Amino acid sequence: MCGIVGYIGKRDAVKVLLNGLQRLEYRGYDSAGLSVIENGTLLTFKRKGKVAELVKLLEKKQINCSVGIAHTRWATHGEPNDINAHPHTDNSNTISIVHNGIIENYHSLKQMLLAKGFHFVSETDTEVLAVLIGYFYDKTQDLEEAIRAALSEVQGTFGVAILSAKEPDKIVAARRGSPMIVGIGEDEYIVASDAAAIIQYTRQVIYLDDNEMVTLNRESYSTKTIDNRLTNSIIHLVDFDLSKIEKGGYEHFMLKEIFEQPQTIRDACRGRLLVDDGNARLGGLLPVFDNLRNVDRFILTACGTSWHAALVGEYLIENLCGIPVEVEYASEFRYRNPIIRKNDIVIAISQSGETADTLAAVQEAKQKGATVLGIVNVVGSSIARATDAGVYIHAGPEIGVASTKAFTSQLVVLSLLSLLLGRMRNLSKLDGIQIARGISELPSKVEQILERADQIKAIAKEFSYSRNFLYLGRGYNFPVALEGALKMKEVTYIHAEGYPSAEMKHGPIALIDENMPVVFIAPKDEIYDKVISNIEEVRSRKGRVIVIATEKDERIKKYAEKVFYIPETLPMLTPILSVIPLQLLAYYIAVELGYNVDQPRNLAKSVTVE
Ligand code: F6R
Repeated sequence: MCGIVGYIGKRDAVKVLLNGLQRLEYRGYDSAGLSVIENGTLLTFKRKGKVAELVKLLEKKQINCSVGIAHTRWATHGEPNDINAHPHTDNSNTISIVHNGIIENYHSLKQMLLAKGFHFVSETDTEVLAVLIGYFYDKTQDLEEAIRAALSEVQGTFGVAILSAKEPDKIVAARRGSPMIVGIGEDEYIVASDAAAIIQYTRQVIYLDDNEMVTLNRESYSTKTIDNRLTNSIIHLVDFDLSKIEKGGYEHFMLKEIFEQPQTIRDACRGRLLVDDGNARLGGLLPVFDNLRNVDRFILTACGTSWHAALVGEYLIENLCGIPVEVEYASEFRYRNPIIRKNDIVIAISQSGETADTLAAVQEAKQKGATVLGIVNVVGSSIARATDAGVYIHAGPEIGVASTKAFTSQLVVLSLLSLLLGRMRNLSKLDGIQIARGISELPSKVEQILERADQIKAIAKEFSYSRNFLYLGRGYNFPVALEGALKMKEVTYIHAEGYPSAEMKHGPIALIDENMPVVFIAPKDEIYDKVISNIEEVRSRKGRVIVIATEKDERIKKYAEKVFYIPETLPMLTPILSVIPLQLLAYYIAVELGYNVDQPRNLAKSVTVE
């Protein structure tokens, strides 16, 4: 949510910044801007709309500079327009700042600054911070000191990068609750909110900690806490390359990421699946093994798609291990008074590892003394670092705003975790072997589904006229119904609802008529016959039935207008297969309707505000 990039070195800063913004655009795309220093003068350019608009604006300008900061925005305060776009400057146009996060006390700070005679041109909280830094800078004439003074007045979250025309060979960046990464190149530094803007230049990075500040000069850098104590930063190597953040011949990132799933599922299992022992090895959980043995209850917390994965996790852990599980929206968890007992374990699930609500839930759980684990994709992210232990899903960068491959990788990791926990308890080796085999066969089964993507494309063409969709599933596939509906809403803007199939008759059945497509997830399992009855209920009201069924299920054809087959697998693993046609259905309908699949309106990847 919002992307920041800053550059200091020997290259053309405008080029590096625009390139960085293009790589970060999935984080926010309602406006973009940059500030550079040319011959001691601060120049700022910003534009409403996509980064392409800013590129157009700068095309004909001859700017000679090698230091600058830039931003792509997802609006929180103030409508997306040129004025509210970042960077923001102080009243004397000396300081420029780009900011991710929210300054919660911006109103009182603004009143204080207005009373002192300062003025504001935008409606943003960020401009208040720019002016506040400018106010302290006038007094201290020292950029770092002014930033420290201003940030200590601020309540809320921030990732910031700041320039001063008076100190043109310097960028200062800081974070609290919003990621900041420093790329260490040869005689150059790139600071960004996301490694995607950095790896073209260097894979050596430092992850700033909360309340940490970095000063980048042309030949050196130093890190301190915001309250001015030296810190010891460790250089890490980013574990993915440029090809992972490019489309690689696909029309959209979403499609690329859907098609990557055979590989990402393999990656999630790599070195972890012990088929002959019927077990799983999750090295990241070693420090908490004793806690896992003694756990009385799990609380899984997450948002959006990751929350749907958590719901599948509930079925998996309860069925395989007999351990009670509760699933909580992270946003709710943090604002009530959750009861956490001694042997409870909280698991936070997050693709980005930066979702503000999930991070806050982690902090709340830790404060209450819980052991907190993370199932996270982005290495070094805030949630990964805030948890006591965890498992990376290793799905690689997910750029498409609608989450796809991260979901299936989360499900794989939850299956591995359930297998491990089950084997610690009552699950037999034979049952373990069957499950481990089932997991190991998933990549090839996903490939078989993807080979028939055209069948979904044809269904998408026929149903793209629909204004509503209903998704129904039971047991393990109830969360898949929710996920199918979410994908449809996000990228096609068609209203869609997911329900447990049997709940339909308690209300949503009133919606069924000849215009309502109903997508049933009906694999051959012990509740298959019940789902058939639910399908009958829809058919008798003329609803248009699309079914995701298990291959060789010939009977289903007589109940459905469209059938898409998925390979047979264990019931507990069906969500990993059944969700794929639903991802494709949403994707192809969005393309059919002409929407920008990778940048759906109003959304942004990684929700770093509450
Ligand atoms: C849906 C989607 C969102 C995220 C949610 C949590 O396609 O992308 O619903 O799943 O914002 O994000 P993470 O998993 O990064 O915590």
